[in-house]
Amino acid sequence: MSKRPVIIDTDPGIDDALALAIALFSDELDVRLITTVAGNVSLEHVTDNTLRLLGFFGKDVPVAKGAGEPLLEAFVDASNVHGKTGMEGYDFPEPKRELLLSEHAVNAMRRVILESPEPVTLVPIAALTNLALLFAMYPEVKENIREIVMMGGSASRGNKGVMSEFNIGTDPEAAQMVFQSGLPIVMAGLDVGLKALVYPEDSEEIRKMGKVGDMAYHLFKRYRGGSFQTGLKMYDSCAIAYLLCPDLFETAETYVGVELRGSMTAGCTVVDLKGYLKREPNARVCLDVDGERFRVWFKEALAKCI
Ligand code: BDR
Ligand code: CA
Repeated sequence: MSKRPVIIDTDPGIDDALALAIALFSDELDVRLITTVAGNVSLEHVTDNTLRLLGFFGKDVPVAKGAGEPLLEAFVDASNVHGKTGMEGYDFPEPKRELLLSEHAVNAMRRVILESPEPVTLVPIAALTNLALLFAMYPEVKENIREIVMMGGSASRGNKGVMSEFNIGTDPEAAQMVFQSGLPIVMAGLDVGLKALVYPEDSEEIRKMGKVGDMAYHLFKRYRGGSFQTGLKMYDSCAIAYLLCPDLFETAETYVGVELRGSMTAGCTVVDLKGYLKREPNARVCLDVDGERFRVWFKEALAKCI
């Protein structure tokens, strides 16, 4: 079976680092390009972190640097969760700069999508700024996109604001453009991210899984997405898990809009499960995940990262 071509748009970020590891070592995914966007930390840091991870993994995937700020909102990072540089806790090698393209992420995505003989899947695990710009500038790419499988949003409450999840709340306008793109979308948001937990006994097992496991363990010690003792939230790995093992998730086809003007709710994904808005579904939303099976899947996937 040929590998599924994907482009991952990311802001590493500790949970991004784990999601990237699993995708890059998977036998089923062909990561053609990694694009970066400001999010967990600045664009410079997330790009450096991506290049460090690729050097550490020994994977030569091209990287393109994207948007350094949201379309309209002021940029606010999540260094309180991921540390000052975004990947605190492990001594990574220097960034592998030869993998960095001179093209902007949006142009690199366009090229890779149009050059691909098979439709490409986009996997944003960060703010949707790059994707929104891509669709605005080069709508022709939509013809060769299979689907978008994102980590972002929530059918319940938020983790950036009362009702907003971080990736959507960082750039709500971009998110709305993506949800209105007409492309098939899978949204793996907080409803599953908050249940995709790694417990201390898992971390101890992971630590023994070679150098990637050891790296993960040290990042976990510094990660503030949940707690080491009561469970660390592997948000971004949910998007990769959906690609590789969709039956872990319970989903619903529904309409998702993004609240742009709410004085207290901007950045909220309005997931219209009951059809109040009378709009056609534009996304498949992951509403639940089997947390126990996720743990097993996550550890098996990490064990392959050698
Ligand atoms: C999302 O926000 C970021 O901090 C994580 O990397 C993840 O993509 C979770 O809300
Ligand atoms: Ca992320």
